[in-house]
Amino acid sequence: MVIISDIDALIETYDVRNDEILDTHFKPIRQRLWQDIRNYGADINKYGMIVAQHLERTSQIGADFLKTLGFSDKAAQNFYYANLLHDLGKTHRNYDPNVWQTPHRPTPQEREEKRGHTRLGVELVDLFLLKSPNELQEHPHVHIIHSLQQLHHERVDGTGYEGLKGNQMGRITKAICIIDAYDGDMIYRPHQDHQRTPEEELKRLKKSEKYQGAFDEEILDQFIDFTLSRD
Ligand SMILES: [Fe+2]
Ligand SMILES: [Fe+2]
Repeated sequence: MVIISDIDALIETYDVRNDEILDTHFKPIRQRLWQDIRNYGADINKYGMIVAQHLERTSQIGADFLKTLGFSDKAAQNFYYANLLHDLGKTHRNYDPNVWQTPHRPTPQEREEKRGHTRLGVELVDLFLLKSPNELQEHPHVHIIHSLQQLHHERVDGTGYEGLKGNQMGRITKAICIIDAYDGDMIYRPHQDHQRTPEEELKRLKKSEKYQGAFDEEILDQFIDFTLSRD
């Protein structure tokens, strides 16, 4: 499976709201996977619900942000539905959700375990597609889902999970990495003393040592303007 790291053109080639192959063959799979996300870990610190809400928020924020970047309504909708599955790998039976809720800062080994969810997500989608017709397996929407799953933790300086550099990523990939960090960092973790506000988090993305050189400057500035103008 080849993961496409620039999905900017591909996302404009279909319309998830009006696509016979997706309607017939993918809708039931998507509904099943979404149910799995909601059910997942329901009794482990309600983590399944936290993940589901993060997926819904990042999808909505991303769809709206893409439009401000000049993408079409159609592309925004395609992004919305594909991105709902970006953290699906966390529901994989080989993945321990407790690793996100440690009472301490994650150790290097725990950090490594957390990373596994990107590829496990791709694996899960592939598993569900095994018996699907070729037109679905090769559908652009499936490529977009895979790409968002595997590449939402990249950093333009090459320090992300797959080590891609900025010039290897399209604008949507750069954008989801920012949006995922923005929303994910505002989820309260037991080792933190308080939950971050949007203003604090935007400042952190722009100025903190942790994120120096991590994001595309231009897209980050556009995202900050977009977020401040929303509230
Ligand atoms: Fe993730
Ligand atoms: Fe995420």
